[in-house]
Amino acid sequence: MKVAVSFLSSDNYIKCIKKINDSNADYIHVDLCDGKYVKTKNFTLGSLDKLLGTAQKKLHIHLMCNDPLKYVDKLAFYDVSTIIFHLDATKKPSQVIDYISSMGIKVGIALNPSDDINTLTPYLKQIDEVLFLTVNPGAGGQPFQEEVLDKVAKFNEIKHDYQIQTIIDGGVNANTISLLIDKDIDIVVSGSFVTNGEDYNERIATLKNGVLL
Ligand code: DX5
Ligand code: ZN
Repeated sequence: MKVAVSFLSSDNYIKCIKKINDSNADYIHVDLCDGKYVKTKNFTLGSLDKLLGTAQKKLHIHLMCNDPLKYVDKLAFYDVSTIIFHLDATKKPSQVIDYISSMGIKVGIALNPSDDINTLTPYLKQIDEVLFLTVNPGAGGQPFQEEVLDKVAKFNEIKHDYQIQTIIDGGVNANTISLLIDKDIDIVVSGSFVTNGEDYNERIATLKNGVLL
């Protein structure tokens, strides 16, 4: 299981990204909030360079933004592994998927805790990752919503047919990792648990070595 670390909860994004650069994290999980899809606004197109220019690991970009298409050109400039967007943030999901893919970047769809898993069906052949939010979008440090795991189990029955990776995002910490360890999860995203720690590598190791309770 890979670990992507989110800087969303940090009060100094640049400093936090530098610490993630120096850690054993597999990816930097970049939560971008536009103030429209979610209340939080934490970037502008003009501020992306300052933020992402300092990143030295592959970026795992989670767009909590309306009209995701308008960010793709700018993001493609960086070393991006995946761009993940929410279906209800665009009227043209297929166009978004095709455009991201045409840039040689993997495509992910994010589902909020209340989103129906069947909304994925038309896109299964075209996408690389599904990100299950186990908290509400827009903020770090919220409690893990365990009931989302029923949806994940259902999805995991078909994911191998389509070669799609399963991502869990939100509320992942030393306790909740035990709920994920045997669930065929490919990547976990962790924000506050890792970035509130002094030693990121110790926290990342706790997630990678998580034990079944
Ligand atoms: C929620 C974000 C998550 C969040 C994770 O809006 O998508 O990536 O920052 O943070 P923690 O691990 O603190 O829930
Ligand atoms: Zn996220």
